[in-house]
Amino acid sequence: MTMKPSSTQTSFASFVFGALFMLTMIAVSTGCQPQPTPVTGQQIYTRYCAQCHQAEGNGIERAFPPIRGTEWVNGDKGRLIRLVLYGMQGPIEVQGQTYNNAMAPHGFLTDEQVAAVLTFVRSSFENDADPVLPDEVARVRAADGERGLFLASDLQNRLGVPDMDSTAVVP
Ligand code: HEC
Repeated sequence: MTMKPSSTQTSFASFVFGALFMLTMIAVSTGCQPQPTPVTGQQIYTRYCAQCHQAEGNGIERAFPPIRGTEWVNGDKGRLIRLVLYGMQGPIEVQGQTYNNAMAPHGFLTDEQVAAVLTFVRSSFENDADPVLPDEVARVRAADGERGLFLASDLQNRLGVPDMDSTAVVP
């Protein structure tokens, strides 16, 4: 009895190895990796906000307002959630500068994603405000439903996250 592998076994092993190697090369060369879904607040910020408000939250003069130390970011949560879900247009003043532009709605983000990105923004760029919870986003979305862009002058005064009762369906 011999321990030496037969030549059939050896060639089978090298066939398997060769096949696995080729599959790996095909997978690598076709780039079959899906794009990773942004999960953390910072990742969502980088993907969906930073092109305008910039990596450090300083915005771009006369075009995109800063989100560093602003009343919109650190102030009322309901207004901030509405802004991200529905967008806004029209003149606003941020830190003594007037902007008259439009921010597109981001209602395609999930409640969790909106909460994560706003929690990130409210605790970054020297901002210091409490977290936004997915449930708060869900309540604003349920109360305001499907709608178009807010006018900045209207949204300015649309404060507060509705409580559960005001959105509950009365039987
Ligand atoms: C395509 C550019 C663009 C993108 C992307 C964008 N914004 Fe804006 N954002 C604006 C503009 C323009 C305004 C001012 C709108 C106006 O003039 O009425 C604004 C206003 C704001 C304000 C209120 C004013 C201030 O500076 O405090 C906040 C807060 C804000 N954006 C947060 C966000 C967040 C969070 C995201 C990502 C989910 C985001 N924005 C994505 C362009 C953008």
